[in-house]
Amino acid sequence: MTAARTDRPRYVVFDQLDERVLRFRPGRKWRAPAPGVLPAWVADMDFPVAEPVVSSLRRYIDMGDFGYPDWPDGVSPLRAAFAYRMKERNGWWPDPEHVREFTDVVHAVRTMLELSTKPGDGVAIHTPAHGPLTATIEQLGLRVVPLPMIDTPDGWAFDADDCARRVAEGGCRALIIVNPHNPTGRAFTRDELLSLAEAAERHDLVVISDDLHADLTYAPHRHLPFASLDPAIEARTVTMYSASKAFGLAGLRCAVGHIGVAALRDRLAELPSGPSVNVLGMLACLAAWTEGAGWLDTVVDYLDANRRIVTEFVAEHLPEVHHHMPEATYLSWLDCRGLGYGPDPASFFRDHARVELNPGSGYNPGGDGFVRLNFATPAPLLHKILDRMADAVANTRRKVS
Ligand SMILES: Cc1ncc(COP(=O)(O)O)c(C=O)c1O
Repeated sequence: MTAARTDRPRYVVFDQLDERVLRFRPGRKWRAPAPGVLPAWVADMDFPVAEPVVSSLRRYIDMGDFGYPDWPDGVSPLRAAFAYRMKERNGWWPDPEHVREFTDVVHAVRTMLELSTKPGDGVAIHTPAHGPLTATIEQLGLRVVPLPMIDTPDGWAFDADDCARRVAEGGCRALIIVNPHNPTGRAFTRDELLSLAEAAERHDLVVISDDLHADLTYAPHRHLPFASLDPAIEARTVTMYSASKAFGLAGLRCAVGHIGVAALRDRLAELPSGPSVNVLGMLACLAAWTEGAGWLDTVVDYLDANRRIVTEFVAEHLPEVHHHMPEATYLSWLDCRGLGYGPDPASFFRDHARVELNPGSGYNPGGDGFVRLNFATPAPLLHKILDRMADAVANTRRKVS
């Protein structure tokens, strides 16, 4: 079974990335699946890293100094770069003095929850949710208060009144907003964010806004940082951001958090060892943000075409699978319940299509029967992945009939 090929001469470099070469990549995405299985799982991209990032790392490595970096008072240049980037891209002018460096987003969320809650408190979060976030809530002795995403004819949404009720009844102290949302790919609108802001104000919640996928938002959708809604909202919000997803730098472990909540900044400063970040991760992130705009535009264009390939293919060749084209992220959230493969269709696709996907159960509640497909891969490979999935389903259809 072959899908229509998309003609994209500008992106021949990405199109030509060879599967045999990619198989030599040392990272988990390609190494962990069994031989011959095509990886469309963990949120890493297959594209070459932006040249300014590589040059910046090379220059530093050539200098051969991996001692403590010379950042006066531990203040990395990322703080100002983040503030400037928010202003340029999102119309929000955050105070660089409220920005801190972290090795990664989940760790930072953990720290913020530790500093702002006590065991037994509720933490509201849209579900399905990125598994490590809900696991973090539970490990801290807190309660996950699910705010269910609802599948509507127009796409994934949430019922603002129902969410407000859940927050009120859930004994919530904190709200985690993942925007853009992983796994549904929603870029929340101003009205949606305002409804959450209202609940946050009414119940005096600390809000942690995980904006990790913000740079991967497709026009006409726009990323709107929650903290940008108004200064009072900013003062109760921690905004997490990183170059790790949009620039393919997750292994370098570097993120920033804009901590609008004054009490949290104070408590963070009291910790025996404050947050610190690897100098190479910092440099990569800085180069990505200050010199990587051209690369990012190309990648987002390419991903935009890939999300359309997935959407058209699924509609045509996998009619039992239900899907909304994501507004952001390089992740497609596929409802496979219509296939009748039970709660874990990812196992079926691993065994019968030789494709590795993220099982929806990793995003529970609300993930059983779903898979998450990562389409940040060369288009020819994406076609191969989709062809394999459709062929496997067609074979089971033949066996049943
Ligand atoms: C929404 C979201 N938050 C956090 C993470 C993990 O980020 P980190 O590796 O920086 O902890 C991911 C990874 O894909 C993610 O999608």
